[in-house]
Amino acid sequence: MSGSVVIAGGGQAAAQLVVSLRQGGHEGPITLVSEEDMAPYQRPPLSKQYLAGKLERQRLLLRKAEYFESKGVELRLGRRVVGIDRQGKRATLDSGEALRYDWLALATGSRLRRLGVAGADLPGVHYLHSLANADRLREALRPKRRIVIVGGGYIGLEVAATARELGADVTMLEALPRVMSRVVSAQVADWLTEKHRESGVRIRTQAKVSALIGNGRVEGVETDGGSVEADAVVVGIGVLPASSLARECGLKEDDGICADEHCRTSDESVLAAGDCARAVNTLLGTAIRLESVQNAVDHGQVAASVILGSPKAYSSTPWFWSDQYRIKLQIAGVAAPNDETVLRGDPGAGAFAAFRLRRGRLSAVEAVSSPREFMAGKKMIAAQLAPDPALLADTSVPLKDLLPAR
Ligand code: APR
Repeated sequence: MSGSVVIAGGGQAAAQLVVSLRQGGHEGPITLVSEEDMAPYQRPPLSKQYLAGKLERQRLLLRKAEYFESKGVELRLGRRVVGIDRQGKRATLDSGEALRYDWLALATGSRLRRLGVAGADLPGVHYLHSLANADRLREALRPKRRIVIVGGGYIGLEVAATARELGADVTMLEALPRVMSRVVSAQVADWLTEKHRESGVRIRTQAKVSALIGNGRVEGVETDGGSVEADAVVVGIGVLPASSLARECGLKEDDGICADEHCRTSDESVLAAGDCARAVNTLLGTAIRLESVQNAVDHGQVAASVILGSPKAYSSTPWFWSDQYRIKLQIAGVAAPNDETVLRGDPGAGAFAAFRLRRGRLSAVEAVSSPREFMAGKKMIAAQLAPDPALLADTSVPLKDLLPAR
């Protein structure tokens, strides 16, 4: 199998694509272009163990540097793809060089949503997306330092937990009535809020940040409810798909690069994988853009299958996780805000699960330190089951009894 592959992006989806291509016997040249200086690495620990200083930098690498060399994969680090000539099948780099491709994979990931208020560019304001961001933030998370976190999503809550463990003083400002409302039920959100409060985080919801203030460096955050003093501010208000390259070269784009169930874009030589892609998931029966490691890995495999000549369809149950203190939150499926919630287990005991149902069918499970409920829920979602809510809530009924017999 030959044909030259150019990959724009150097995250989890890009790394998986390389691995799956070589494992599948692709012999043609592969060039991976990444604007970061480091070979593909894991991002999840950047807000957790790595930020806490418990994980060495080299351990973040998805593959050792030698791997790429030994597989004949050219890494162009510190470089960006800045233009695509679809007709001539060339990708232009910021160095001016043009790379010819038979297949182009867009694995450009996501870009940060920036806080659009006065003072948001002051020194001492942090975002967390890259390893370089994490290294800088780590310096700021010292005992007693006053850290104000804007945004109570994955990044905000994980950074809050790490910062408290490092002894910092933490205030969180969330715009909506609840933290994590994009991804979990009110019950799980409220429970998490309580745990953070018990750990000393001051959480303000429905907070409107109007400005960051400071003389040469951030010193405080102004909100509709008064100002909060800060030695550093961490902004985690979500990400957007990095799809401008695709849009500029005329590929179909709609909050993510549109792709079919094989990760094929509107140009048959161009694939899209990972956070930047809105690909069809045949299990969910819709195109969906997801921000997760699992989605990036699956897309990498699907895109590789197309290049290898035996296209697989994308049909996985999405799943996500978050570690905060000793809490392990695992989510499978994608709930809509109005989905019904059925609780199983005792939140007071620290381990429980929220099952989400849409028109009777299980849409998601949010498992709090309950790996068995997570696994069973994930299987039920894949099997598209409509379990009896009373049985789901009854801890005397083993969840495996609700699964179809194998
Ligand atoms: N002020 C305060 N809060 C805000 C504002 C604002 N101006 N704008 C948005 N928010 C809140 C949202 O209501 C939400 O609770 O910020 C939170 C953002 O949460 P996420 O969408 O989960 O985004 P983030 O935490 O930045 O994580 C981005 O990184 O960890 C990965 O893949 C993970 O998808 C996640 C991504």
